[in-house]
Parts: sequence; C-alpha cells; structure tokens
Amino acid sequence: MGLPWIGETLDFYRAQQANRLFEDFVQPRIARDGKVFKTRLMGSPTVIVSGAEANRFFLSNEFKLLMGKNSIMGKHGEQHRHIHGLIASSFGSSSAESLVPKLSKLVQRHLHAYWSGQERINLYEFTKNLTFHIVFECLLGIDVEPGMPEIFERILEGVFMPAVMIPGTKFSRAMKARKEIESLFVRIVRKKKEELEREILEGGEGGNKEEEAVLLLRYVVAMLRGEMTEEEVIDNMVLMVFGAQDTTSFAIAMTFRMLARHPHCYQLLLKEHMDLKSRKREGEDINGEDIKKMSYTWKVARETLRLFPPIFGSFREAIVDIEYEGFTIPKGWKVLWTTYGTHFDPEHFPDPTSFDPDRFDEAKPPYVYMPFGGGPRVCAGSQLARMNILVLVHHVVTRYDWSPIHPDEPVTSDPLPFPVHGMPIRISPKRSVD
Ligand code: HEM
Repeated sequence: MGLPWIGETLDFYRAQQANRLFEDFVQPRIARDGKVFKTRLMGSPTVIVSGAEANRFFLSNEFKLLMGKNSIMGKHGEQHRHIHGLIASSFGSSSAESLVPKLSKLVQRHLHAYWSGQERINLYEFTKNLTFHIVFECLLGIDVEPGMPEIFERILEGVFMPAVMIPGTKFSRAMKARKEIESLFVRIVRKKKEELEREILEGGEGGNKEEEAVLLLRYVVAMLRGEMTEEEVIDNMVLMVFGAQDTTSFAIAMTFRMLARHPHCYQLLLKEHMDLKSRKREGEDINGEDIKKMSYTWKVARETLRLFPPIFGSFREAIVDIEYEGFTIPKGWKVLWTTYGTHFDPEHFPDPTSFDPDRFDEAKPPYVYMPFGGGPRVCAGSQLARMNILVLVHHVVTRYDWSPIHPDEPVTSDPLPFPVHGMPIRISPKRSVD
C-alpha cells in the first residue's frame, strides 16, 4: 500500500507523466502480486484489476455494486442511462452517416484555413481546434463564436489545479471562464427553447428532420419534457467538449505517427483513400457510405488506440463490499481498471507491442479491446471520434504529403497524454490533386 495516506501516488504519477504507467507501475505489480492487487492512490485505498473478466465484472455491474466517479454529471441509474442515451443515439447508424457531409465540409474548411500555403503544421493543436468546432457545429449544432476555444482552454488549465480562489491563479481564472461559458450557454439554450416552444405552439413537432442528430435540440426537448434541468444541459455541453478534445487529438496524432513509422501500412491506407477519391466526380464530397469503405484506415486507428489509449482506464468506487476472485474489496475502496490489462495481453494480442492493424481482421471477445471503455459508461462519443479520425485522414492523405518533424517525439501526460512538441509535421500539397 506504500506510505501512509500518500501510498504509491508519486510512483503512479511519475509513471503516468512518462506515459509508462503499464511498464513502470502496473506490469511489475502484476508480476509480483497477480492480476488483482491493492495500492493506495491519492489517499484512497485502491484495487487495480486487469483482464477481460475483470473489465466485464467491474464495468457491467456498476449499477449494482459501483459508482462512476467522473460520470456524466455524476448521474447514476435511470438518469445516467437517459443522458447517455441522448448523446449516443445522436450517432445511431443512420444519424452518424448523415453527419459525414457536414463534418467533411468542416474539415476541408479548416484545412483550407490553416494548411494552405503552410510548410509546417502542429498536428495536435490543429486537431484540438478542429475537434472543438466539430463538437459544437456537428454534434451540438451551435456556431463557434470568436474567443470560445480560448475560454475552454482556460477552464481546462484550471481543472487539475489546487482550488485556490486567489485572483490570478489558474484555478480562479478557470472559474471565471466557466462562468463566462455558463452565461453563453444559458443564452443559447434559452433561445433554442423559445424557438421550439414557438414551433410547438404553431402546431409543429419541434425540430425538423435535418436537426434530428443535433444534440442541443435533443437536450432542449428533454428540458421541455421535464427530464433534464437547464443546469444539467449546460454541464453536459461543457463535459462534451472535454470528453472529445484531447482524446480525439491524441488518437489522430498517434495514428499519423504510426503511419509514418510503418510505410507499408501507409501505402495500403493511401490506396484505400486514393481509390475512393478516384471514384468520385470532380468536387464530389465523401458521404456516410464512403466511411464504411475505410475499413483498413479504421484498423490502423484501432491498432493505434490499442497501443496508445488516450484514456488508460478509469476509477470506480465500491459502494458495498465486493467479492471478486476470492478477494473482498471493501466498501469505499476505489477500483481501477486499465486498458493495459488486456491490450498488452499476448493471449488476445500476440506479440502485443508490435503494430499490426490486420490483427483486427478477427473479432475480439467482449471487454478485451477497451479504448472506449465498456458497460453502461462506454464512451458516448465513440462514433463521432471514429468519423472525425476517418474524415480527417481522408482529406489529409489525399491532398498532402507529410512527414513528422520529430519522429520519436516523447509523449507526456497532464493528465491525458499528448506529444510534448504538439507533433509538428512538414507538409506539401500532393502534385496530382489541388
Ligand atoms: C478517440 C477518442 C475518444 C476516446 C479514446 C474516448 C474514451 C472514453 C472512455 C475510455 C470513456 C469511459 C470512461 C469510464 O469508463 O469512466 C469515455 C466516456 C465518455 N466519452 Fe469518450 N472518448 C473519445 C471521444 C469522445 C468524444 C468525441 C465524445 C463526445 C463528443 C466523448 C464523450 C464521452 C462521454 C460523454 C463519456 C461518458 C459516458 C458515460 O459516463 O456514460 N468521447 N470516453
């Protein structure tokens, strides 16, 4: 359990910062103590569990045994299911496809604005800004106003700072930024509510076909039905940005890194996109059907997410004593499941440290491949992340030649992983296109 109170927190943080949580913290303890071991992190006694069976047990039994700590607004049971359903159903297969043209236009607009005439791009920062716009414009259905990304950045800077309300500290600036966002969102939500009420009064059903997938509308409908409060709607909108931005940006940065390191895979991927493009008429854009044809690219992205999961795992809390594999996990203890427990297990992924997209030709058993988590709290935005990755890769590789400036750029975490230099790449327009 390590030292009193602090336990093994410092070792944990050091390993996490170096992006070596598995190698330096989890693996040596598994080797010594087995796949279920205890430690103390940030004052809390914690059990770290590994393996598909543990993932299934701890992620699917949540409502009976465990509570998610950083949940959607800390909601549980029925209320959590409702909000999760609202978000995830924005990407039911038909809605997901209908988002592609809008997403594709947005990606091209950003490439035009930020890549044209440039020789060097900071890929991580670019995708962060792009994802911000995608969440607002494609998911929520809100236009990004000037200054909004910066306000969110300020909130993020304060999230893991000590809660000190002294003017000038990162935390107090973050709190101020949070208030600014709240008043902005209140204005947007109330305007939408008024529009919808007016439409309903005029005999409409509230919300036209085109807007079906747009989450803001779904939230406001839920508000009108008394299923969500205004505060819940706004907090969930804020959460959406944080859930999406750093995760997707890291996934995209690492996908490009893996492509640069594996030229053979890059050639196969490039062919997939060039073939797709060659079947299009001049100026014709990609659509939802085309996404399904990017199967090799999705294997590359999945393999990247296996090796570089943006979220390495997450904490749950035992709300009753739990019996698991002959151990008792006492009520109040934390349970940490990690992707590493299965992602690096040779039983499921032979030669686990090697990069092999074709390993996804075979379906994996449940609770083995876990970059998006599992159970009721599985990532609500995984479909959006998938489209974001595929559409961006398509437009980049069909228009640009590119190469990383620091092929071995280290990855650090704060607390989510990112490439230390923001993954600068050298770019030049492909001569045959544009
Ligand atoms: C590659 C990109 C992404 C990765 C790797 C990722 C990963 C995850 C993981 C592992 C969880 C589960 C955490 C837990 O078990 O406690 C999660 C939850 C969540 N994610 Fe994502 N995510 C990504 C993108 C997104 C995007 C684009 C959105 C939104 C637009 C999003 C919204 C959410 C939300 C709302 C939850 C909470 C679900 C719930 O508690 O019911 N994520 N994500």
